[in-house]
Amino acid sequence: MNRLLLICSLLLIHSSLSLAKTVIVADAYVDVANGKLIKNARIEIENERIIEVMSTSNRSVEQGDTLIDLSGHTLLPGLIDMHTHLTSDANEHGVRRLTTSQVRKAFRGVKYAEQTLHAGVTSVRNLGAGAFTDVAMRDAINSGDIIGPRMFVSGPSLQITGGHGDNNILPHDMPTSTLGVVDGPWSAIQQVRENVKYGADLIKIKATGGVLSKGTKVGAQEFSLEEMEAVVKEAHRRGVTVAAHAHGTAGILDAIRAGVDSVEHASFIDDEGIALAKKNGTYLSMDIYVTEYILGEGEAAGISQESLDKERTVGHVQRENFRKAVTAGVKMVMGTDAGVYPHGDNLKQLSRMVEFGMTPMQALQAASIHSAKLLKQEQNIGTLEVGRFADVIAVKGNPLNDISILENVDFVMKGGTIVKQ
Ligand code: ARG
Repeated sequence: MNRLLLICSLLLIHSSLSLAKTVIVADAYVDVANGKLIKNARIEIENERIIEVMSTSNRSVEQGDTLIDLSGHTLLPGLIDMHTHLTSDANEHGVRRLTTSQVRKAFRGVKYAEQTLHAGVTSVRNLGAGAFTDVAMRDAINSGDIIGPRMFVSGPSLQITGGHGDNNILPHDMPTSTLGVVDGPWSAIQQVRENVKYGADLIKIKATGGVLSKGTKVGAQEFSLEEMEAVVKEAHRRGVTVAAHAHGTAGILDAIRAGVDSVEHASFIDDEGIALAKKNGTYLSMDIYVTEYILGEGEAAGISQESLDKERTVGHVQRENFRKAVTAGVKMVMGTDAGVYPHGDNLKQLSRMVEFGMTPMQALQAASIHSAKLLKQEQNIGTLEVGRFADVIAVKGNPLNDISILENVDFVMKGGTIVKQ
């Protein structure tokens, strides 16, 4: 009798513990792991994670479970933008930037994090923020204080004195010190250690000049091979990856030789760079949409004539080189540089990736499974598979027929919680 009571009470405890499920049904889902569109999608979620993915027209749910009926829609894994600046404002370029404190930028970033998530970008790699504001934002999102995508952050980027990323606008008798300005291998190693100490998930370095900085030559190398090797060795020893901003041909080559995990922009990459990236498995993250914003609206947003002139030499070459890299089969992710252009417009880049050589499936894979791999998060994000976080988005229609429908994401779920419907 006692034993029967025990069994009954154990059963009772078990049934009260077994959690209600959320079931999403839709016309189809994009299986990025196998490169297929699967008709009649049914995804079951418990807590934060996916527990079942099926192709079935069965829409029944058990009592207590929640059914989300997204008929007419296609489901995709929440997408990943591998190059954002959530604390930057698209309307605050050039000298205007000097007028805003890092704290103010962080508060502003709260809104941009939410806009990014609502656009269907459920994870970002944030590449460069002052005063570790990105670390604070990541932690605030993870603890539920504010709403935003999963963030993987670099802290302040590393750059040389006078290089892209240093503050070169003010004259020498109005000195400013920019966090992350380092010269020489040991100084660079120290900054890597400091970034790791204060919570960076990865390291961002500026290997060459840039478009939006004063006085840097966009094609010229800045960090030497020796400095970059020191950074990569230290970062990898500490278990973090390295992303290298590099437009110029020589700087791209040396960054790849040094062993960086991804090259950002990669604008003037040549055949040798493409071949070496392919051989070493280095990812390219080419922001091929942003040129339209810079040349179209940049002047009104405060971008200097010097930077506009540089952009005119970069944008179209970068797009042609994107095509070459795709054809060569280099590993590619989606990095947009959102923050230079408005947050929430991230996925406008997908249609440009298709225009310049990718199939719609390749563009979606770049923005999901490949990005997850570069983040070393493929067990958690990037696909709609059992065990992954329930980061799910939905669009009306079939994105493989028209990739631009990703610019209007109707439904966003992050970790099993609906954030937009
Ligand atoms: N942050 C980059 C830089 O200043 C933006 C480059 C944008 N242009 C481009 N075509 N991707 O260098």
